[in-house]
Amino acid sequence: MYCKVKKRHLQPLKTLFVLFLTISIIYRWLQVVDKQQKHLNRSNASLPNNITILLWYWPYGTRYSLAGDVCLRDYGITGCVLGDNRTLYESADIVVFHHFELKLHKQHLPVNFHRSAEQRWVWLSLEAPQNNGDLSQYNTLFNLTMSYHPQADITVPYGKLLQRRKPDLDIVVPKNKSFEACWVVSNYQKWHKRSAVFQELNQNLNVQLYGLAARKHLPKEALLPTISRCYFYLAFENTQSPHYITEKLWRNAFQAGTVPVVLGPPRRDYEAVAPPNSFIHVDDFKSIKALAEYLRGLTKDPEKYNAYFTWRKHYTVKLYTDWRERLCNICPIYGQFPTQKVYEDLRVWTKW
Ligand SMILES: *[C@@H]1O[C@H](CO)[C@@H](O)[C@H](O)[C@H]1NC(C)=O
Ligand SMILES: *[C@@H]1O[C@H](CO)[C@@H](O)[C@H](O)[C@H]1NC(C)=O
Ligand SMILES: *[C@@H]1O[C@H](CO)[C@@H](O)[C@H](O)[C@H]1NC(C)=O
Ligand SMILES: *[C@@H]1O[C@H](CO)[C@@H](O)[C@H](O)[C@H]1NC(C)=O
Ligand SMILES: *[C@@H]1O[C@H](CO)[C@@H](O)[C@H](O)[C@H]1NC(C)=O
Ligand SMILES: *[C@@H]1O[C@H](CO)[C@@H](O)[C@H](O)[C@H]1NC(C)=O
Repeated sequence: MYCKVKKRHLQPLKTLFVLFLTISIIYRWLQVVDKQQKHLNRSNASLPNNITILLWYWPYGTRYSLAGDVCLRDYGITGCVLGDNRTLYESADIVVFHHFELKLHKQHLPVNFHRSAEQRWVWLSLEAPQNNGDLSQYNTLFNLTMSYHPQADITVPYGKLLQRRKPDLDIVVPKNKSFEACWVVSNYQKWHKRSAVFQELNQNLNVQLYGLAARKHLPKEALLPTISRCYFYLAFENTQSPHYITEKLWRNAFQAGTVPVVLGPPRRDYEAVAPPNSFIHVDDFKSIKALAEYLRGLTKDPEKYNAYFTWRKHYTVKLYTDWRERLCNICPIYGQFPTQKVYEDLRVWTKW
């Protein structure tokens, strides 16, 4: 009797539950359909309207082929047309100017051409602001900036870490180390901070020098195998500037399989892009002598040394070297650009 009452009492609850379940399933199904619909619409939307990016001249004078649909073929990006033929100027949505050639007056901005109100001019530089010279002559000409700096409209880092889908527990720490530290340097200037740090470090540590400045040129294919035989790589930037972290970290140190000793922006800028225990920062030591002692100690302590490679379990290195890839990557973020923007004074970026 008691039981029956309870059951009858439960009936409305059951019905309610079934009703709720049905509604959530239908709701979820609608969401999926909507998503698919949206997805289709988005992918179709890019078809009739290609974004045209015109590179006014090639950085450092080296041309690369733009034949075929480069962005789709090489980078899986649809609706993105790259060109270097100036006849595209009228129809280009974006025109990119690399700063180095402008600075040397080897190239000029087409200031006398008619420019549509929708067209955006991009100022491109991968150099630290200290190396770009006077920018005041470019006031009110550019709409967007393209640089390694995270605050640029188009951020183009030298490299980054990509998270592995699942951790690789079998990472190998490169063995066969013959040198305490290595440095590849092509532009040695006495007044560079890095030169002074090197001189002092070299008094306390065996640093192997390579590169133009050391008259010991390393061919491209020998670079990584050679560096991999050093415990440490001196990833010393030519200029200390916020977020200015170059291939010296990503390629010469991380890809080679050596531990970077970094001299550049503050530790927090490195930590924004790499795990804290993947590099050794010069600023962490009260003297260069103390740094040298620490490094030498690590070469004699495999466990502690190997810990600097733990990041490899979770990440791989992605290097950006191809201008075409950097340019194609503009298209997916094209829709996020402000509809109207002019750099009244390009020098603002030196203060970021
Ligand atoms: C997608 O496009 C179809 C056909 O043009 C349209 O009926 C539908 O509303 C669009 N859906 C969304 C989510 O934009
Ligand atoms: C989008 O393109 C796909 C195939 O590319 C096609 O099946 C679909 O009907 C198109 N949708 C619209 C809304 O044009
Ligand atoms: C868009 O670009 C692709 C690749 O260059 C080309 O095949 C296609 O015809 C272009 N579409 C339009 C509408 O211009
Ligand atoms: C640039 O495009 C024009 C018009 O399509 C063509 O006549 C010319 O040969 C092209 N120039 C180069 C260098 O490909
Ligand atoms: C280790 O380095 C030596 C040169 O010091 C080289 O001859 C040898 O091939 C290297 N071994 C491996 C496994 O890389
Ligand atoms: C780009 O900058 C110019 C000024 O140099 C301006 O007239 C134009 O409206 C800007 N375009 C966009 C899309 O912001």
